[in-house]
Amino acid sequence: MLPIDITRTTSPKPRVSEEALGFGQVFTDHMFLMDYDDGDGWHSPRIVPYQPLAMDPASAVLHYAQAVFDGLKAYRGQDGSLRLFRPGDHAARLNRSCAGLCIPPLDEAMIEASFHALVDTDRDWVPSRPGTSLYLRPAVIATERFLGVRPAKAYTYFLIASPVGSYYAEGIDPVSILVAERHVRAVEGGLGAFKAGANYAASLYAAEEAKQEGFSQVLWLDGVQHRYLDEVGTMNIMLRIGDEVITPPLSGTILAGITRDTAITLLKDWGIAVSERPIAIDDVVAANRNGTLTEMWGTGTAAVVSPVGELGYKSEHLTIANGQIGPLTRRLFDAITGLQYGTAPDPHGWVKPVRAGFRS
Ligand SMILES: Cc1ncc(COP(=O)(O)O)c(C=O)c1O
Repeated sequence: MLPIDITRTTSPKPRVSEEALGFGQVFTDHMFLMDYDDGDGWHSPRIVPYQPLAMDPASAVLHYAQAVFDGLKAYRGQDGSLRLFRPGDHAARLNRSCAGLCIPPLDEAMIEASFHALVDTDRDWVPSRPGTSLYLRPAVIATERFLGVRPAKAYTYFLIASPVGSYYAEGIDPVSILVAERHVRAVEGGLGAFKAGANYAASLYAAEEAKQEGFSQVLWLDGVQHRYLDEVGTMNIMLRIGDEVITPPLSGTILAGITRDTAITLLKDWGIAVSERPIAIDDVVAANRNGTLTEMWGTGTAAVVSPVGELGYKSEHLTIANGQIGPLTRRLFDAITGLQYGTAPDPHGWVKPVRAGFRS
């Protein structure tokens, strides 16, 4: 693996108090960069002071959105030690996203090393209040100065880090969700399974409409029949109907969430039946009416789990699980956060202590 060059800042930023941290507003002192050129491949991995990227206005990413990203967190345990949760899986997913957008693959060991090196360099920025973390945002953008529509020949990988507050500072409140009946996020054969910026651009209009109607997120249905559940906002969706937990399959339209996989694995460890199969919105409504739908929640790195308390569908407001967080949702939240903060044993080897020694 190429050595990582480190240039430390000479003007550290003032710190924001941990109580005032929101999401994605504060950034640490450093960032990680690496470049790709046709011929040289990926080269020059380095940590530099956090700074703007200089880009030609003809850079491909600014026109044709050849860009992917990922998102993971570093957690500080009660003893002060720092951990990453499933960093190798995030690195592998970033590379799958790259493949989907014709971006040359990176060395996954280097992506993982970039997570460790930046967190180690900015380790004092990892907050310690319960529920807080350091959010890591790796991204790859096409930087070639060329207006033709084809995969670019130059790219930049960058990694930035943002201390974030507890998602649930006020307690875990179930959210209200509007079923998207008209707008779609992705279709089979499209970009839905990749963490491409373009998917998020495609989601904005429906999300704004939902907010105007008083809902906090959108429940996306499949793009062909508008019948089967896809995802909820930027999370994967799970339901408990009777004794079974159901979640849509990885059919190409949804992101393979790492929290989704974690939850499925834990549920199976606990002896709970989990089915990855298509589930129609009409079946969800019917199960809610006959009382067999007992819990519904989203999974994702930001919130871990987010219970759904209300569904807006065909001008009706349906209350789910009495608008409360269900016992399995709560159990998953406690189990996953226990792993992340190092208070629970880790039989699956998901938690990686942050490697030190990158400091210059
Ligand atoms: C569209 C979408 N689906 C699902 C997820 C959940 O994935 P993960 O659990 O890996 O955070 C995310 C967030 O990363 C997302 O953006």
